[in-house]
Amino acid sequence: MMNLLTLRETSSDQIHYLLDTALSFVEIINRPVKKVPNLRGRVMVTLFYENSTRTRTSFEVAAKIMSAEAINVAIAQSSVSKGESLKDTLRTIQALKADCIVIRHSSSGTAQFAADHLQIPVINAGDGRHEHPTQGLLDMLTIQKHKGDLRGLKVAVVGDVAHSRVARSNIWGLTKMGASVTLVGPSTLMPHDVSELPVTLSTSLKQGLEGADVVNVLRLQTERQERGLLPSLREYSKLYGINSRTLRYAKPDALVLHPGPMNRGVEITADVADGLNGIHSAIEEQVSHGIAVRMAALYMLMSVPSSSVAQQMGDRI
Ligand code: NCD
Repeated sequence: MMNLLTLRETSSDQIHYLLDTALSFVEIINRPVKKVPNLRGRVMVTLFYENSTRTRTSFEVAAKIMSAEAINVAIAQSSVSKGESLKDTLRTIQALKADCIVIRHSSSGTAQFAADHLQIPVINAGDGRHEHPTQGLLDMLTIQKHKGDLRGLKVAVVGDVAHSRVARSNIWGLTKMGASVTLVGPSTLMPHDVSELPVTLSTSLKQGLEGADVVNVLRLQTERQERGLLPSLREYSKLYGINSRTLRYAKPDALVLHPGPMNRGVEITADVADGLNGIHSAIEEQVSHGIAVRMAALYMLMSVPSSSVAQQMGDRI
């Protein structure tokens, strides 16, 4: 694999490989001294045109654990503010000897654009409403850890699917691994191309959650909402909010996920988010798994075969 742009274009073998590798890295991130030499001398550059807390930080943590250099381009202070085009910015970073670019942008297709114009690997850290493959992978890793095999599981993805790249990466990844996906939410928050997606749809929370092994709650993306998609936030919470009562529509041992950041009290209540009263919430665990998955992605795309390292050392002697 040259890039990690979408789970739609990633084969189930590649997903298996990434999840298995990530699982083996979970042990490393739990060590008191978190450092392995695998990516020594390699440089990862993060280029985020949209805000982020956990995704950007976990890429940085992942790179550092693997002994790679992690450099962030602060967009607000970069030449982007002087009008530099995306293509020029990307090519500049490549000329600065980055070995991999991790990009987030508000426009769908930006990661592909970057890959088309660069010779170094590109990882999509979220492009518009399109995909967020490492989030999909960390969701799958978390589900796998709790439920074992993904095959045959029913995953309900609840809420603002229309604006969610997380939902799309979940849909492609999970269905490739043999799980089924039900999208639950008001029809105004469903994507236009929903009939082309391998999913079942439900506008009723009760019906949509029935028999669900996993409930993946999406953030209501108020910053992307064109006016008029929802009567009010209160109405939304009442009909689609996940609380200890509505969670009972799903299986009793249903696992609750949320990609974060959460709007507590809107799409999810605090007791569900925090896993109180016997609720199985894996929201913080997802964040930690994000490190392992990103280590796996960086390892896959940036590691240099040991034969060429030996060759380089030999050349020098
Ligand atoms: C998501 C994102 O930015 O796509 N967050 C994340 O990466 N963990 C989801 C969101 O913003 O709602």
